[in-house]
Amino acid sequence: MKNNRALTFLFFISVSLTFVNCRSQEKDSLSYQTEVKTLKGAFEDKFYIGTTLNAWQIMGRQPEELKVATENFNSIVAENIMKSARIQPKEGEFNFELADEFVKIGEENNMHIHGHTLIWHSQAPDWFFVDKDGNTVSKEVLTQRMKDHIHTVVGRYKGRIHSWDVVNEAIEDDGNYRNSKFYQILGEDFIKLAFEFAHEADPEAQLYYNDYSMAMPGKRAGVVRMVEKLEKEGITVNGIGMQGHIGLNHPDIREFEKSLEAYGNLGKVMITELDLSVLPSPWGDAGAEISDNYEYEDKMNPFPNGLPADVEQQFTKRYVEFFELFLKHQDKIERVALWGVNDGNSWKNNWPVRGRTDYPLLFDRENNPKPVVKELIELAAAK
Ligand code: GLA
Repeated sequence: MKNNRALTFLFFISVSLTFVNCRSQEKDSLSYQTEVKTLKGAFEDKFYIGTTLNAWQIMGRQPEELKVATENFNSIVAENIMKSARIQPKEGEFNFELADEFVKIGEENNMHIHGHTLIWHSQAPDWFFVDKDGNTVSKEVLTQRMKDHIHTVVGRYKGRIHSWDVVNEAIEDDGNYRNSKFYQILGEDFIKLAFEFAHEADPEAQLYYNDYSMAMPGKRAGVVRMVEKLEKEGITVNGIGMQGHIGLNHPDIREFEKSLEAYGNLGKVMITELDLSVLPSPWGDAGAEISDNYEYEDKMNPFPNGLPADVEQQFTKRYVEFFELFLKHQDKIERVALWGVNDGNSWKNNWPVRGRTDYPLLFDRENNPKPVVKELIELAAAK
């Protein structure tokens, strides 16, 4: 009898504790939802927080992903559809259907809209650099083609696309100019011309230079040199995009900060193309030279069925460290943009090794926010 009474008492205590616990968890999650809401809400007064849209999302074939993008982010950039090979595949034949839709989505959702990218050696159509007989074109012809391309694309979205990556990846990691077709034909002047043409087409748009491995000292020095020279020549470069294709161990965050400060002295800084690969890199430190590709091997794909908890923790910690840095320098930073909506559609699953399973973004393959999202929201609220 005594035992029964004791058991009944214990039962009531445990039910009440469970009830209290549930209530407080419910309260936590309610206050979490009402107070901090979403990434875009949390970072509203710090910097834009952006993502990419790919062709499927723009065409409405991935409504769930599009919903994640519009509910959590307040800035968008097209992942591929505005690159020159896609938007002007043949001379004078522009393909604006998806770009129009992309801009419409941004406007309907009251988003900051970024254009990517006008002049880039990669994903550029072959015709751009050759004449009918396949011979390399003259300086004059290439200049005219650049002008037509930039005027047509920027002009079409004048006043609607707020900022542009005018030139992408013109500097090598050692600070020298990349020996691209643009450079071979026009020398470094191609950069100046691109900025001039973009400014003519939309004098209000913010014009940026964008590149990868921007934390490397050689690249930093080269980019600073180039922008200072352009400014001396009367060209305005409104800001610099630091592509954020990072890994668990690279780049050194102190070097990243040095670059952020150096670029911040020249104009605004954008953290662009942010994704954090958890996979081994075939060459150690990864940049984003998309022509580099490596053969698949199982040992390079260690997490095909899910991310182990300890790696997820490292991933969260690393993202938090970078966002702490971004918040510390929020006076310099205009926008932080993720390169993809969810892990399933990240290019990192296929680069630099095809067919791997990577986990570089803030939302998982089912479009659920990862634990890091709550951490980032709380971090923003505290700074
Ligand atoms: C570079 C480009 C991006 C994209 C990535 C890979 O960083 O700037 O447009 O192509 O490579 O997705």
